[in-house]
Amino acid sequence: MQKRNMEMNIRLILFPLFICLLLVLIQKTVNSQLDKPSLRCGCICVDTGKGQCEKTCGIEYSSLDQVFFCPIPHPTEWPLLLQVPAQQFRAVRTGDRCKKTGSCPVTMLITGNNQTFGQSVAGNMFSRPLNVNSSDILQSLADNALGSGTTSRYTNFIDAAFLSNAPIDLLQPQCSSDSQFSVAIQLGSATLQKDVRCTQGLQLWRNSSAEINDEIYKGYRNGNSGRKINEILAAYDFANSNENLFNVTIWYNSTYKNDTGDQPPALIRVPRSINLASNAYLQFLLGPSAKMLFEFVKEMPKPETNLRLDFSSLLGPLFFTWVIVQLFPVVLISLVYEKEHKLRVMMKMHGLGDGPYWMISYAYFLAISSVYMLCFVVFGSAIGLNFFRLNDYSIHFVFYFLYINLQICLAFLVADWFSSVKTATVVGYMMVFGTGLLGGFLFQFFLQDSSFPKAGIIAMELFPGFSLYRGLYEFSQYAFTGNFMGSDGMRWKDLNDSNNGMREVLVIIAIEWLVVLCVAYYADQVVSSGKSPLFFLRKQQKNLSSSFRKPSPRRLGSKLFVQMEKFDVDQEREKVEQLLLVSSTSHSIICNNLKKIYPGTDGNPEKCAVRELSLALPEGECFGMLGPNGAGKTSFINMMIGLIKPSSGTAYVQGLDIRTDMDKIYTSMGVCPQHDLLWDTLTGREHLFFYGRLKNLNGAALTHAVEESLKSVNLFHGGVADKQSRKYSGGMKRRLSVAISLIGDPKVVYMDEPSTGLDPASRNMLWDVVKRAKQNRAIILTTHSMEEAEHLCDRLGIFVDGSLQCVGNPKELKARYGGSYVFTMTTSPTHEEEVENLVNQLSPNATKVYQISGTQKFELPKDEIRIADVFEAVENAKSRFTVQAWGLADTTLEDVFIKVARGAQADTTLS
Ligand SMILES: *[C@@H]1O[C@H](CO)[C@@H](O)[C@H](O)[C@H]1NC(C)=O
Ligand SMILES: *[C@@H]1O[C@H](CO)[C@@H](O)[C@H](O)[C@H]1NC(C)=O
Ligand SMILES: *[C@@H]1O[C@H](CO)[C@@H](O)[C@H](O)[C@H]1NC(C)=O
Ligand SMILES: *[C@@H]1O[C@H](CO)[C@@H](O)[C@H](O)[C@H]1NC(C)=O
Ligand SMILES: *[C@@H]1O[C@H](CO)[C@@H](O)[C@H](O)[C@H]1NC(C)=O
Ligand SMILES: *[C@@H]1O[C@H](CO)[C@@H](O)[C@H](O)[C@H]1NC(C)=O
Ligand SMILES: *[C@@H]1O[C@H](CO)[C@@H](O)[C@H](O)[C@H]1NC(C)=O
Repeated sequence: MQKRNMEMNIRLILFPLFICLLLVLIQKTVNSQLDKPSLRCGCICVDTGKGQCEKTCGIEYSSLDQVFFCPIPHPTEWPLLLQVPAQQFRAVRTGDRCKKTGSCPVTMLITGNNQTFGQSVAGNMFSRPLNVNSSDILQSLADNALGSGTTSRYTNFIDAAFLSNAPIDLLQPQCSSDSQFSVAIQLGSATLQKDVRCTQGLQLWRNSSAEINDEIYKGYRNGNSGRKINEILAAYDFANSNENLFNVTIWYNSTYKNDTGDQPPALIRVPRSINLASNAYLQFLLGPSAKMLFEFVKEMPKPETNLRLDFSSLLGPLFFTWVIVQLFPVVLISLVYEKEHKLRVMMKMHGLGDGPYWMISYAYFLAISSVYMLCFVVFGSAIGLNFFRLNDYSIHFVFYFLYINLQICLAFLVADWFSSVKTATVVGYMMVFGTGLLGGFLFQFFLQDSSFPKAGIIAMELFPGFSLYRGLYEFSQYAFTGNFMGSDGMRWKDLNDSNNGMREVLVIIAIEWLVVLCVAYYADQVVSSGKSPLFFLRKQQKNLSSSFRKPSPRRLGSKLFVQMEKFDVDQEREKVEQLLLVSSTSHSIICNNLKKIYPGTDGNPEKCAVRELSLALPEGECFGMLGPNGAGKTSFINMMIGLIKPSSGTAYVQGLDIRTDMDKIYTSMGVCPQHDLLWDTLTGREHLFFYGRLKNLNGAALTHAVEESLKSVNLFHGGVADKQSRKYSGGMKRRLSVAISLIGDPKVVYMDEPSTGLDPASRNMLWDVVKRAKQNRAIILTTHSMEEAEHLCDRLGIFVDGSLQCVGNPKELKARYGGSYVFTMTTSPTHEEEVENLVNQLSPNATKVYQISGTQKFELPKDEIRIADVFEAVENAKSRFTVQAWGLADTTLEDVFIKVARGAQADTTLS
């Protein structure tokens, strides 16, 4: 069948390719948007003089937007700065006056064990007189303590202090009034003019570090809340330092950072405060000429960058969730199709056990899922999606393998609740899109919210769609950062990372797989096979109940009904009771008081479909069941083939109880259901091969059996056998169903109206088949065709309103119920009375059953007339008036049937 579905399967497998291509297309579009000149370093074309153009790129040719992307092969060197508090926050003792003039001093606190020592070291920090050598500005500036109130940046290609308008603070113990000057700094080809302003650096001694602590932490900048604003430059604790020991602790404000981005603290301005102390100590020891110069800082060189957005990694989780969950409805629909079309039951009736069915289906779905995922990964890698290329393929493999297994088990579980392919399709695809969208637009927010508790995430991941999403999300995160940073994606060692959810996801999926597998198998046993929810507890009792041939106590009660029943039915019942007492396998089928009651629904009373049916069928007999529509024939057959459970009573097939040993019975049973249960896409020959194999045929025996079977139902010639069954006519399907029911030599065959819809030639051929087939098996056949019943059946039972009205071979029945001839005569309407007189003369007890415009029909009791008399009377009549037509017929089975059915219905109406 899957061979037939090749086209669909290929389309399915191409779906990931389609999605990958879509992603590539999106990526291309995004890239083309990002490739705009404004998002690249500026370039100009320099004419080389030979009509050619040499492209030169660089900061100098770039607009302000473009600068960001330019290469910086030789980053500028910057003098190292101190982080100086802004004017308005500086700790001052004397009012706000200095804030207006912008001349507040910055404070530095000093402490230590030896005040003399501490103060003389600290005194060296700012002691140099202002000294700027214009031919080497940088070095001479580095010699001084410079500071800035601006916040440093994430990168230091251009120091923020030199870009801002605020002047650089040059810290001095004292400032003269006119102490502002300007320096020119060379920046590539441009020159930066920068103001430098003298700021007083105030060094205050404190008796202990505890005092410093108090002072610093009192001074939080807090708007206009009235608290004291008390920010200092830095504080130094010289502790037990002396000439031989340098032991200093430095306080600095690490909170000082740019709040607008999540950029790291401005540690870039800390080194200078350390250098300041070291340099001062050196000068304390060796005199003012000694120097420990921290000349400059400089960024690493940088290549040209361009903006790249790995879209496949960003959108990947959503799209790929769709791609993978898409397999779910495929599996689900396939399972529900077999259920809806009762093919599963059909296969079971021909001996395919649940275990093999599960294994085969599972293996098939696993195979197709694996191929699908393989194509997905191969396409994705071939197209060049980082999602696949950067992450370790073995993690991909393990993750997908676990997930598709879980998904198949889920489909098995969910399939139990669907009986129609349509609803399954709708629900399946809603699941696909719902999972993707919920994952992308709800679950991902929780993932990205670092304050959301981890247990909550894990709880959500118990939903398989979300665990899939999480796994794909992790892949994409690793691919995205890998692409951005030029590093690898996820490796096995990354699973150790506590931020990586992959480990939990793998564990959850693996555990769920096992759990769902067990639950699905259990649910399948309960729902599909109709076992009781606690079937596994019953194993022990089975042997007791199946010790058959033990008359049940109910039989005593049933004796009471006997008088009211027809004697032949009664005989049959007694025969069954006899058979149950002696162990004998001469009878293939024994039904013992089989009863089926359908519970009342919607206020209707409960319906009794089969009432205490007893029947025994020896091998080699074909038993015909006649009965009006709705008499309960199909209910009876359904009970016998295990589709429904009897309400009470039981039946034994080949000595096995239908309540407990159905699985064994199936191996020797053939069924031709009322409605053809066939796979649309399989040919007749394939059907027979399949069911033949289920019946343990193989090799040459199978081929032979299939050929024979095809020939016997006239499907062999003209290539009919190799056409798909959906192209068959109704009659051909019927014949194929009969052939299926007979293949593999079953001991018991049930045929539900096998010849409906057949043309006479095919029907005769079918009858021959059935006749030949009944040699060594028991056949129960229901039909509406009396001709068929008469032709095929050794015994007949007329079944009305749930019980047998009579049992016997066709001749007996006719003799018993049809003790009359039917006489028909057509004349002109004026002679009707004469015809009636004629009949009355022939037989006084004749009854008229039918009269219309000259045609009359009478029943003549057989024992009152001789046929010769009738002929004579008609010849006489012909001489008197015109007889247009006349006839005399023996009772047919049809008459018997109508009589019995009417009689039984009249009985029930009366009662
Ligand atoms: C304190 O330091 C000064 C200068 O180094 C030194 O002369 C003096 O002995 C020190 N005092 C003590 C108590 O160590
Ligand atoms: C200024 O710097 C240059 C180069 O380092 C040096 O030759 C010159 O002597 C310096 N001038 C002063 C006054 O230090
Ligand atoms: C913080 O940094 C951003 C850009 O990185 C800059 O625009 C902003 O002015 C900075 N804020 C301060 C207070 O320096
Ligand atoms: C610090 O110590 C000196 C001498 O030991 C003392 O005079 C001064 O009051 C102390 N200062 C503070 C704030 O406790
Ligand atoms: C440290 O810097 C932050 C941010 O600039 C500021 O709010 C805070 O008041 C400062 N703390 C001290 C003790 O200076
Ligand atoms: C340095 O000073 C601290 C106290 O500020 C002290 O605990 C530590 O022992 C000193 N280190 C040395 C080597 O003396
Ligand atoms: C995993 O992480 C734990 C601590 O988080 C560490 O002890 C262990 O060595 C790591 N294992 C590997 C294989 O990196």
